[in-house]
This record gives sequence, C-alpha cells and structure tokens, in this order.
Amino acid sequence: MNKSSRISGFHKMSAAERLNIVKTFSNLNDETVKLFENTGNIPIDLADNLVENVIGTMNIPLGIATNMKINGQDTLIPMATEESSVVAAVCNAARQCYDNGGFTTSMSGSLMIAQIQLVNITNPEYCKALIWEKKEDIKEICNACDPILMSHGGGFKDIEIRVIHTNAAAMVITHIIVDTRDAMGANAVNTMAEKLAPEIENWTGGKVYLRILSNLADKRLARARAVWTCESIGGESVRDGIISAYEFADHDPYRAATHNKGIMNGVSAVVLATGNDTRAVEAGAHAYATRRGSYRSLTHWEKDKHGNLVGSIEIPMAVGLIGGATKLHPIAKANLQIIGVQNANQLAEIIAAVGLAQNFSALKSLATVGIQKGHMSLHAQNIAMMAGAIGEEIEKIAKILVDKSLVRIDIAQEELTKLRGQ
Ligand code: MEV
Repeated sequence: MNKSSRISGFHKMSAAERLNIVKTFSNLNDETVKLFENTGNIPIDLADNLVENVIGTMNIPLGIATNMKINGQDTLIPMATEESSVVAAVCNAARQCYDNGGFTTSMSGSLMIAQIQLVNITNPEYCKALIWEKKEDIKEICNACDPILMSHGGGFKDIEIRVIHTNAAAMVITHIIVDTRDAMGANAVNTMAEKLAPEIENWTGGKVYLRILSNLADKRLARARAVWTCESIGGESVRDGIISAYEFADHDPYRAATHNKGIMNGVSAVVLATGNDTRAVEAGAHAYATRRGSYRSLTHWEKDKHGNLVGSIEIPMAVGLIGGATKLHPIAKANLQIIGVQNANQLAEIIAAVGLAQNFSALKSLATVGIQKGHMSLHAQNIAMMAGAIGEEIEKIAKILVDKSLVRIDIAQEELTKLRGQ
C-alpha cells in the first residue's frame, strides 16, 4: 500500500505523537527514535514553539574562535558550524595579526529598509510626487507602530521612492528606512509597511501588492580591517599570493562565489551561534557583492607603504540581540554572554571581523600549500568516524589516511580492520 504524506492535524499533535507517525512512515528503529527524543540543550517545547511540525532538534558543533582582538578588546567568539577547518581558520588568521593590533571595526548604522510595491497606475511619476508629499504622515504612521522601538531611540528615518519599468507595467516602489537599533528589525519594518499599504493606495488610487523588508541591508554595513606583517604570515610571496587571489576573485564571478562562500563560512557560523537569521545575512551579502555591476569580492586585500598586507571587508549585517531565537534559545543567549557585546552594532562588527579572518586563512592556504593539507587532517577524522573508528582509533586512522594521502572511506575501513586485528 502507498504511504500517504497527507496527515491530517499533524501540526496539532505533540512532538512525541508526530515522531511516532514518522517512525511508522519511515520504519525508524528504536535507536533512531531515541536520537530524536534527545533534544540536547533546547527543550522540546521551545523547539515546538519556534517552528512547525517539530519532531526533535539537530545539534551542530559549537567552537570558540580564540586570538581575536577587536578594537583593542580580546574577545572569544562562539561559532556554530558543521564544517571542519572553519573555526581553526579564524584562530590562525587572528593569531597572525594579534601583535599588530588585531581588528578595527565600524558600522554604517542600524537602518533597515522595507519595500512597498504600488501597481495598477498609469502615472507613476505623479504618484511618486504624491507619496513624497506624505513623508510626515508616513513618519507618524510608522512610529505609531512601535513605541518600544521609539523608546530605544529607533524608528522612522527616511523614505526613498523609485519608479521601476517592468515587462508588466511601471511600478512605484517606496522604501521606508527605519532605525531598528538592537533588533534585526524584520518584524518592525514589515508591520510598518503593512500599515502604510492602504494609505498609499488611498493617496494614489493604485494597488499595493508586496510590503516586506529588503535583505539587501546596505544601510547596515559592518566594516573591519586588519594589518598582517610579512614576517607574521611567512614572507612577501605569501602576501603577494593573497593579493593575487583577491584580484582573481574580484574579477571573476566563478572564483568570487567560492571566495565569498569562504567568508560566509565564518560569518554564518557566528550568526547561527547567536540565534540570528543566517539566510537574511547571506542574501544581503551576496546581493551586496553585485553592487558594482558584477559579482565581486566582499573583501579587499592590498599592500601598504611599509609592505604589510592590509585587508578590509564591508558587508551588510542585519543581526540583532533581541527577538526570535536570539532571546529564546538558551545557547544563543549564552553565546551572546561569551561574546560580551552591549549592542547589535558591536555584534555585527565582530561578525565582519570573523569574515575577514576567515578569508585571510582561505586565501593564504590557497596561495601556498593548498586547502587540502589543513582540511584533510580534519576531514580524515570524519572519514575515520564514518568507517566506524571510535575513541583513540579516530586519530590513529586519520593519521594513516593523511600519511598515505588517501583520505577515503574504503582505506579507512581496511586500516581499521588491520588496527583492530593487531
Ligand atoms: C571552503 O568551504 C571555503 C573555501 O573554498 C574558500 C575559498 O576558496 O576562498 C576554502
């Protein structure tokens, strides 16, 4: 008999009831069910409130990036990631610039944008003028939506209005620009945009469809910079290799995608560890990387007049300290305590520094020994575990695989059999 995924009332069941249904549907054995029942450091009720149709939770390793000095302050940074080498890369990059002052950061502000899409109009330029005249009303409507944000010094800041000519027809796109302070701000700006929509329809006679934030948070840019001396990184040829790798990425989208992915390895790990929205930050970063007409590097690498390697990054960073999982997930809260930031801007700047550090290590490896050397020893441990190695066997098998330059599961299994036979 065909199994049906049409399960009526699934969302109303308890997590245990849902798990039982999934167990039957997918023939899970008792051992697997126990894995789902162990929800680790987040209570099942919380998980059930955060998302829908919950049956369990899924743990991700949490590592601490050490050696990070940011604006003169030593900082420990929690990173949640399943990828080997990511945490080590940040520690290594930070160690090599620590004595030279570490990272210096800044922030353009905590402004988020929401868009309101007006259609069904024959006179877009005229409508644009009508909306401009209502700027004070718009400000009042937006600010009335969020007294708490206002009490924290946030609220409406400005509008931008553009006419876009599409295949369908002209549309008038209104941006409301809102200071969301320590909140990521999606809820705040979406509420304001929804409140404004009927007013814009009244003022113009058009129809509003979409009213939603933009993840291209280019008024919330986090910046970081650092200086690496040639002595600390292994010489001038390493410096030149890093700069050349950067130039490659900045002029070739195929390389830039991988280059920026490496940056996001670090960025997303801290975003996740603090309960923030990884997809929002990733979307913003990649969209921002195209702002000069083609997809380019989010970092810059240059040589200063003393011959030092200098790196900088500028990246949209819509993260908050309040709201959503940040305030509810016990580990996200604890991670924020470890980082010790006082406001969302500080967190954003720290994340930018992590992105720069990550990129430094990737480019240094790629321009010298290649990525596989460092990667492979950690990857070899994963392969050893996949082959069934436990305890001390993991290190032993991983070392054999690396020594043989054959990091493969079949070799790991062979070596494990040999080891156990000894
Ligand atoms: C791997 O996850 C990330 C790198 O590919 C980044 C890069 O190539 O710059 C190593």
